[in-house]
Amino acid sequence: MDSPFEILGIEPDADDAEVDRAFRRRVIEVHPDQGGSAAEFNRVRSAYEMIKEGHPIEAVNGEVSGDTPSSSSSASVPDDGDEDEDELRSKIEYLNYEVLDDHGWDLGDDDLFEKAAAANLPHEDYGQFLVQENETLLEAAENRGYAWPYACRGGACANCAVAVFEGEMDTPGDHILPSTMLDSDIRLSCMGAPLTDDMKVVFNVKHLPGLDELRLPPYPFEQAHMND
Ligand code: FES
Repeated sequence: MDSPFEILGIEPDADDAEVDRAFRRRVIEVHPDQGGSAAEFNRVRSAYEMIKEGHPIEAVNGEVSGDTPSSSSSASVPDDGDEDEDELRSKIEYLNYEVLDDHGWDLGDDDLFEKAAAANLPHEDYGQFLVQENETLLEAAENRGYAWPYACRGGACANCAVAVFEGEMDTPGDHILPSTMLDSDIRLSCMGAPLTDDMKVVFNVKHLPGLDELRLPPYPFEQAHMND
């Protein structure tokens, strides 16, 4: 019976940064491509979520017990619209990669975002939001009600990948992206935050060549969780 802290291999008094670092290390260790399993992966992810949500309770039969924390991945979190301007880091203009084909657009189009702005796309596919100092790009999207793709939240898959069209974004810590992807301005929204006041990103690029091979479909992990 391991506690969430034991599952991550940290002390109970670990601070947030230590918890984040431990999660990234563990989630890569238990990645199925590294010899781990979907069940182990889910256990690590559950432990991390328990600690972050303030429910660091005991695990039972290898599975973290207790109420399922309200997932930060929920797309139902409304935009409260009252962010303090002083705490805002960057303005993000986003575009869903999945709509490009429908309109005959290409990721390499210089005027991609101008065309998107003129196309009257729904908010889930095109728009803007603000990222606060303490948010990753994925967290910011989720906190404003968007359901951007993700799986591990720890840099071990490519489900959350975005293409940075304009501006700069970091990708700190251990992660699975090869240097060729970084050179092509691909970043992981679960780990990274904007480095510039304004940034344009195309999200949902997980099926791009080179990323699809790194991707971990979320469903096997959910299924493993249900079957445990
Ligand atoms: S969700 Fe897996 S790397 Fe971001």
